[in-house]
Amino acid sequence: MKALLDILKPTSSDWPLAKAVDPERLPQHIAVIMDGNGRWAGRRNLPRAAGHKAGMNSVREIIENCARIGIEALTLYAFSVENWKRPRAEVETLWRLLRFYVERELPKLVENGIQIRTIGRTDELPANVTSCLRKAESATRQNRGLVVNIAINYGGRTEIADAVNRILENARRAGAADSLVVTEEMISAHLYGAGIPDPDLLIRTSGELRISNFLLWQLAYTEIYVTPTFWPDFGLTDLLEAILNFQKRDRRFGALNKDAVTATDEQVDELLGVSAT
Ligand code: IPE
Ligand code: IPE
Ligand code: MG
Repeated sequence: MKALLDILKPTSSDWPLAKAVDPERLPQHIAVIMDGNGRWAGRRNLPRAAGHKAGMNSVREIIENCARIGIEALTLYAFSVENWKRPRAEVETLWRLLRFYVERELPKLVENGIQIRTIGRTDELPANVTSCLRKAESATRQNRGLVVNIAINYGGRTEIADAVNRILENARRAGAADSLVVTEEMISAHLYGAGIPDPDLLIRTSGELRISNFLLWQLAYTEIYVTPTFWPDFGLTDLLEAILNFQKRDRRFGALNKDAVTATDEQVDELLGVSAT
């Protein structure tokens, strides 16, 4: 948080929000469904591409702000396996914008200690997109700051199926396929971004109340925050509000809080209207 407070003016409207954030209880990993670029553009009578371009600025901002706040990992949903259903021209615009921004931002990402990684079937992307992403990954591999996972050509179901197939393939090679029993730990260890803890907080912009095939396995106990803000309008204020909202949540992971009142056997008898045996 200190790096953020250092650059904020005490007179800015974000200052009280930033001061209210408890630096001891930050979400370690934030995942974001960056949605609403098209609608943002539509409201302005602009082509959808203008919304995607504006969305890229929000990407740059959230990376900078998460690094300043001290978040450890940020996973950004950039392109789903279902997004291939969009018109070819839109998909191509997305690749152009992605390459343009990655090339332009890479020196600053390297300098700021950001680690770029990708999750998804990245080998099925156009060759110049794959090579641009590989370049960003290798240039930032030695960095030790914020991990930014870009989910691209990503599908949650595809990821789980890919993980199971890899487990099976390894077992076959070891001649152990017949006795293979797949466990949750094995699946977790074979996901694209294995090793990164599950997201603590999922943010979805533009108000849609769905997961859209994002991180199906990893979101099991993630706190969900949906804002009506379109992605191109999502800035520091929205991020701080999401974190403050997260810090008010009571995460139980299926268990009970220490102060939960459970009943004695006698009280249960009484509730059921039966006499104690
Ligand atoms: C999110 O914005 C970006 C991508 C899916 C690539 P959309 O393009 O989905 O924008 P809307 O939802 O149509 O407004
Ligand atoms: C989810 O948004 C995918 C990304 C943000 C990359 P979509 O716009 O594709 O999701 P739906 O179609 O509204 O579910
Ligand atoms: Mg959308």
